[in-house]
Amino acid sequence: MLRSIGAIRRDPLAFLAAMRASYGDVLQFPIPVPATYLVTDADAVRRVLVTNAKAYGKRTLQYTTLALVTGEGLLTADTEAWRRQRPVIQPAFHRASLELVAGHVRTAIDRLLARWARSDGQVVDVDEAMMHVALEVVGASLFGSDLSRDAERLADATLAALDVVVRKARSPLPVPVAIPTPTNVVLRRAVAKLDAAVDAMLADRATRPLPEGCPPRDMLDLLLAAHDDDGSHLSRQQVRDQVVTFIVAGHETVASALTWAWHLLATNPEELGRLRDEVDAVCPGGSPGFADLARLPRTAAVLDETLRLYPPAWVITRRSLAPDVLGGVDVPADALIIMSPWLVHRDSAAWPDPERFDPSRFLGEDGLRRREVVASSAYLPFGAGPRLCVGRDMALLEGALVLASLVARVDLEPVGPPPRAVPLVTIRPADGLPMRVRLRG
Ligand code: HEM
Repeated sequence: MLRSIGAIRRDPLAFLAAMRASYGDVLQFPIPVPATYLVTDADAVRRVLVTNAKAYGKRTLQYTTLALVTGEGLLTADTEAWRRQRPVIQPAFHRASLELVAGHVRTAIDRLLARWARSDGQVVDVDEAMMHVALEVVGASLFGSDLSRDAERLADATLAALDVVVRKARSPLPVPVAIPTPTNVVLRRAVAKLDAAVDAMLADRATRPLPEGCPPRDMLDLLLAAHDDDGSHLSRQQVRDQVVTFIVAGHETVASALTWAWHLLATNPEELGRLRDEVDAVCPGGSPGFADLARLPRTAAVLDETLRLYPPAWVITRRSLAPDVLGGVDVPADALIIMSPWLVHRDSAAWPDPERFDPSRFLGEDGLRRREVVASSAYLPFGAGPRLCVGRDMALLEGALVLASLVARVDLEPVGPPPRAVPLVTIRPADGLPMRVRLRG
């Protein structure tokens, strides 16, 4: 392991792939504490996430570090706290909210196109643009369409805190937050700013409560109205934790998927042509809305296939709460289980010619979106089982609408060398994604 530290830092994805190639689908790393396993066998993954999910918790370095920012939000909350919250939060992602999200996508895309009109023919960073769009959409979905100064401050503070957390997670010697190292001081300040921004948002919302009988204006209204069976509402701290969680979980993930979709389309012109044909036929004006989605199966398939090749959540971790057997290997209690959608999605047994970008895997007769592969957990960009991504439908809707809107209205031509994938919180291109943008006539 010590000899491998350089290789892990240089290219974690290649390191994990090499480990699996040498040692198989369920392997143990020679680390004394905690006992650490890389699990890439689809059945074993399914056991951890779905069939024996209650025997696994989220007290892992990945999630405890993230929880420094997101607190007891849905993504990081463990077991009992999570069980109480999930049914209370879930309705915030129902159809009415998704229709609002579709409107926010349109606004964000119109703004982006206005910016790109000024850069027509020039090179732009598509990765930066997708981050911008995704942040705008999640911000507007949470706080309403006119993003106030407070909302902007909140998003900025969240990203600053997240940045520190990523640096902490990558540091070889994790220092407890109580010790005032420079990084911890920056983190404490960022979290204090975050809390102040949430307080300001909530104070503002208290001055203009939702009028009786009116539909919720945004997810914040839904969170504030949410209650469990005995009628109790989320506390201020719980609302804060969910808001921050949605920004963290719902922004870079979507942006990463979209960035890689543009890369894959640009390097597979035939697929780009097929996608464009579909969009031009369904919405000739190039402004698809919620109602058009059902008629854009290829657009959805392009996104599905992108999520297979570049799953933004490239690792999912769990802590075993009891001994278990995974793929024939005895796993003790308190072990760290590392699962990698990146590797699972490249297993040639489930995905013939796995490196090839082929959206038709998810279409028609061959549609692997169908039962077997998904049910076997050989496809898990959004996780699986009870902790499946609560924002999945929102992400798929947002992703498809952004792809369809832009493919109809702009040409993006790759420039420079192919992007190198770097696994951070999500998988990002090392140096952005420079492309020449041309508005279509
Ligand atoms: C392409 C975009 C997205 C991807 C790839 C993605 C991926 C994931 C994955 C893999 C998990 C499960 C983690 C685990 O089991 O440990 C998850 C959970 C979660 N995601 Fe997403 N996500 C995306 C978009 C979103 C959006 C848009 C939101 C909200 C605005 C969101 C909010 C959440 C939350 C709250 C959880 C925790 C659910 C729970 O444990 O009950 N995600 N996501």
